[in-house]
Amino acid sequence: MFNFETSVDRAQSNAEKYTLRTTLFRTNEVLPMWVADMDIKSPSCVISALKERVEHEVYGYEIMPDSAYEAQILWMQRRHSITVQREWMFYSPSVVASINVAIRAFSSEGDGIIIQPPVYAPFESSITNNRRKVIKNPLRRDHTGRYCFDLDDLRAKITCKTKLLILCSPHNPVGRVWQRDELAALANICLEHNIKVISDEIHSDLVYAPHVHTPFAALSDAVRDITLTTVGPGKTFNLAGMSISTVVIADVLMRECFEAEYRSIHFAEGTSLGHVAFEAAYRDGEMWLEALLAHLQENIEKLQSVLHVHSSMITCNIPEGTYLAWLNCDKMALKDSELRTFFIEKARLGLSPGLAFGKEGSGFMRLNFAVPSDTMSEALERIDNALKGCNI
Ligand SMILES: Cc1ncc(COP(=O)(O)O)c(C=O)c1O
Repeated sequence: MFNFETSVDRAQSNAEKYTLRTTLFRTNEVLPMWVADMDIKSPSCVISALKERVEHEVYGYEIMPDSAYEAQILWMQRRHSITVQREWMFYSPSVVASINVAIRAFSSEGDGIIIQPPVYAPFESSITNNRRKVIKNPLRRDHTGRYCFDLDDLRAKITCKTKLLILCSPHNPVGRVWQRDELAALANICLEHNIKVISDEIHSDLVYAPHVHTPFAALSDAVRDITLTTVGPGKTFNLAGMSISTVVIADVLMRECFEAEYRSIHFAEGTSLGHVAFEAAYRDGEMWLEALLAHLQENIEKLQSVLHVHSSMITCNIPEGTYLAWLNCDKMALKDSELRTFFIEKARLGLSPGLAFGKEGSGFMRLNFAVPSDTMSEALERIDNALKGCNI
């Protein structure tokens, strides 16, 4: 019913993942498995809606329709058991832009903002670009290699100047889907110290059973009132190029503060095609998403079975969410630059180096497995051959 088997040529469509190959990897020969979008077509309900809109042939200013927000509200209610009201929501062209606006709205220059590396790099740059101080509360790895929050370290680092925590939930790159009790323990510390939370939940629909995404704002009314959540269809339905996401803020005062900053920047209302894609995806894309999740699970299982053979060199915990595999290459005993060269030259894969997520990512590589089956087979053959020929 849905085709996740065959690849699509993206090299001719200005896709960042392909166009930047020579800049980043100095060769076009790598299979690009880095930037977090999918080499998979969006659902046909989205494509048909877009075609119909294009046929209209007028693309002037538009406003994001209430029906689009309604579709997202129903989606969140159905899939994540959270009730959101229309007046809590803002359009945003980008999650990273929303994070920047939130930093300006809820902190002042010199204030401290917590991140939990290894983590999506723009969290840190958004803080430093706004002349706030980065407070690193690195994730801790247990004996199985599973990452968890380090709450003792967090408590020790909080000062009266600490104003915000940026949470990645589910977590890019380590693939954790935080459990309710873990989030609740984190939230209690934030409540105690009057720290607001920017909860980046852009990966929240990409979660594998039995794991369940818990929206941070769903923990309690008190937690909801210190939270700004970013969500959107960009990752879920591969619509990153449509520049459309939403910000959800329940608390009136927080919303007013955010809105003042937001209006001053003039985000406007997005694109005519973005609105259409957003609404169609949330309204009619659920069966496609279920099939996609099954396909992604197959890909990660195939990757696991290849890595299993080479476990003396690379290991990878199965991600609980996201389509990103966090490869632990420590046992290869290579420097980070050598590891990167190994993947480019020997495996001919363009991956994200672990160091891109902070120094805590040293010895790791991130592999994006949101590809059709034929690309996945090709990637696995390349990894397998490179590791077989490896005389490290
Ligand atoms: C955790 C996280 N937040 C935000 C983004 C980017 O969102 P946007 O393109 O809407 O700025 C990404 C993209 O990889 C991400 O992984």
